Amino acid sequence: MRVLTLVLALFTIVAEMQGQVTKKPFGKTPDGTPVDIYTLKDASIEAHIMTYGGIIQSLKVPDKNGKSADVVLGFDTLDGYTSGPKPNSAYFGALIGRYANRIGGAKFTLDGQTYHTPVNDGPNTLHGGIQGFDKKVWKAKEIPHGIELTLVSPDGDQGFPGKLTAVVRYTLMGKELKIDYSATTDKDTVVNLTNHSYFNLAGQGNGDILKNEVKINASHYTPVDDTLIPTGELASVEGTPFDFRKLTAVGARINDDNEQLKKAHGYDDNWVLDNGGKFAEAAEVYEPTGGRVLTVLTDQPGIQFYTGNFLDGSITGKGGKVYGHRAALALETQHFPDSPNHPKFPTTELKPGQKYHHVTVFRFSAR
Ligand code: GLA
Repeated sequence: MRVLTLVLALFTIVAEMQGQVTKKPFGKTPDGTPVDIYTLKDASIEAHIMTYGGIIQSLKVPDKNGKSADVVLGFDTLDGYTSGPKPNSAYFGALIGRYANRIGGAKFTLDGQTYHTPVNDGPNTLHGGIQGFDKKVWKAKEIPHGIELTLVSPDGDQGFPGKLTAVVRYTLMGKELKIDYSATTDKDTVVNLTNHSYFNLAGQGNGDILKNEVKINASHYTPVDDTLIPTGELASVEGTPFDFRKLTAVGARINDDNEQLKKAHGYDDNWVLDNGGKFAEAAEVYEPTGGRVLTVLTDQPGIQFYTGNFLDGSITGKGGKVYGHRAALALETQHFPDSPNHPKFPTTELKPGQKYHHVTVFRFSAR
């Protein structure tokens, strides 16, 4: 009897150490494909992640007084993400692929051949095209502390060459949500994966993020043209509203008379991280009322800091909250936008036999 009690107690301890992962059905896509939602739980953090788009549907995090709030934008039901003429047009919480951010002129040349990708953002391709990875149902399996999502994108999908197998692992340990991205291909191709969570550390739907303080460990950024495609220059942030090397309020300089800020109607740019390609702290966000802090760590070369400039109150999200202008910010760890057309940028090419692999961590704390 005693032995049995001991064995049971051991099992419980091991299960708790591994964090809790549970699964529930979350409805069906318009074409009838079933979607599941997984709950990843640790001591004080709870994440809900769907197989549709690998979307982080909610993320509950405590403030400095231990009060929990959902800090990401999104919808209560699957329909919120799949319905309407432009489903989830803001890409709330989604995995983005094959190519996060923009491809200029919706085309690129690889091994002497030109490939055309969908035009869905001015003259450019944004976030992998019309049916990007954010709109696919991923295969899921439970792993210790989290889930592993797999998507096989066939040769020619959205115009990209090669059959690409993408594997994304979400794990929650302590106060860290880790996203481990990998991919392999059977033909030369390009790849750039990210997660497009919109954070409001005061709680989703709770005002704008202009008083949030942000730090980005980058001395350079990639200025853009009128369609938000990098010019190719790596410009110094020194003396510009793009210098976030010290914690600075998002709203402090957002309306400055600056040509780059005007083009994007706020911040919507790629910063060149000073991490030298090594896993390191890339950015921090501090919300002064509840004291929540988000630290983003990555080994990616860049980070897109986007201040929700396109949010205009036309989207109603979780709990009936209306998402107004700058209701959230995104910190998308990534390769630089339009790299396939910029041979001087770190390469996004992937060849058969090679493995694309990157890690990003969202670490939460409060002070
Ligand atoms: C990224 C882009 C923005 C915008 C959002 C989605 O952050 O850089 O310009 O397209 O995605 O609305």
